Amino acid sequence: MEQKPKGTRDILPSVVNKWQFMEETAKKLASLYNYDEIRTPTFENEALYNRSVGATSDIVTKEMYVFKDKANRTLALRPEGTAGVVRAYIENGLFNNAQPTKVFYIANNFRYENTQAGRYREFSQFGVECFGSAEPCVDAEQILLANQFLQNLGVKGFELQLNNIGCPTCRQKFNLALKQFALKNKDKLCADCNNRMLTNPLRMLDCKNPNCQKVFNDAPKLEEFLCDECKTHFASVLSLLDGFNIKYTLNNKLVRGLDYYTKTVFEFVAQLEGKDITICGGGRYDGLVNEIGGQKVPACGFGCGLDRIIYFIDESKIAPKDLVYIANTPDVSIDKAQYIANVLRSADIMVETNLTNRSLKAQMKYANSIGANKVVILGQKEIETGQFVVKNLRLGSECSVDAHNLIKYLKIDSQDIKKITKTYKD
Ligand code: HAM
Repeated sequence: MEQKPKGTRDILPSVVNKWQFMEETAKKLASLYNYDEIRTPTFENEALYNRSVGATSDIVTKEMYVFKDKANRTLALRPEGTAGVVRAYIENGLFNNAQPTKVFYIANNFRYENTQAGRYREFSQFGVECFGSAEPCVDAEQILLANQFLQNLGVKGFELQLNNIGCPTCRQKFNLALKQFALKNKDKLCADCNNRMLTNPLRMLDCKNPNCQKVFNDAPKLEEFLCDECKTHFASVLSLLDGFNIKYTLNNKLVRGLDYYTKTVFEFVAQLEGKDITICGGGRYDGLVNEIGGQKVPACGFGCGLDRIIYFIDESKIAPKDLVYIANTPDVSIDKAQYIANVLRSADIMVETNLTNRSLKAQMKYANSIGANKVVILGQKEIETGQFVVKNLRLGSECSVDAHNLIKYLKIDSQDIKKITKTYKD
């Protein structure tokens, strides 16, 4: 039998409610912060990612799904959301609108990575991007949004880490100093770091090898090379976060795996199976719009990894399904049940009926197994008298309800239903 490709997953109906919970929370929050949704293609020209994410980054050199189409164009499946959004911003002239432009997306990404818990080859991000403001309040507001997103999902025990990686001018001086330091210590550094010291020295700080990390403890520090503007910007971000009462840790080794960042970078980190895992990452990228061919437009954004966050959500926050099952007795045909079902559905009530011709007893068992909240018994007697018996499966109670009150009764939530005893009257 054919199996799904490595690193992909089927999201089955039994867990899709967790995804819907994350997506709905994201959409609601994004709109509260006035971010509008944007949808960009799942694949772009490969060159877009080389120019933005960085030709020497792991994503571009090792992880991208690159393919030729039938007309020999070189395309790549989206490895991350920012590059495509920046391209769309420029190509569609969104910079002509009143600025800032604030957009969000929930989209799947593809990276050829070694798979493990929380690391997949197809994964989803909730991301936001804001174009046209260089102000530190944008960085702070986005961090606040990400923090609130995690809180609203009930994620606990995460840590916000922040760093200031400066602008290209201050970074150039730092890169030079770091490269010199690394050259002196090259024998103690891993092969990857030996490569990176020539192509992208900053990335060495991100190395997971403990020996390299030990060496870099004595390396020149980025903060010593920062220009006044970068320092002032970051100090304002921190003071705004203090004002919002958001806790953070400064991590001077946090450099992010993508090349476009400037000034503020941040990650929300949690623990999964005893290991640190980044559940959200982002930062400012003031040079990217210009590098991809647009004007000089400052920007800032983040991406939350939904496939990782799902491990930490508080499932008790997910509203249970409010499903009504109509159980027809053998003397009532299914079309009568379906007629009533359609009336109820028109009133926004979720309804299931007896689609496989089960006995009444089997229907009760089935209603339980599909998580129905209430069962309306539909027998010949009920049709003639217009009095329905409604069983509440969660509370284990039942009530007699007049036909003209049925919709109203079915919409009452469980807490209030507890107060109603044998019959429900308007
Ligand atoms: P990123 O750090 O590469 O940043 O990814 C953001 C988040 O996506 C990560 O923190 C992680 O939670 C999740 N993620 C990354 N790779 C995987 C994977 N293989 N499996 C599961 N989850 C994964 C970006 O992508 C930037 N575009 C974020 C950004 C937006 N910066 C500015 N604007």
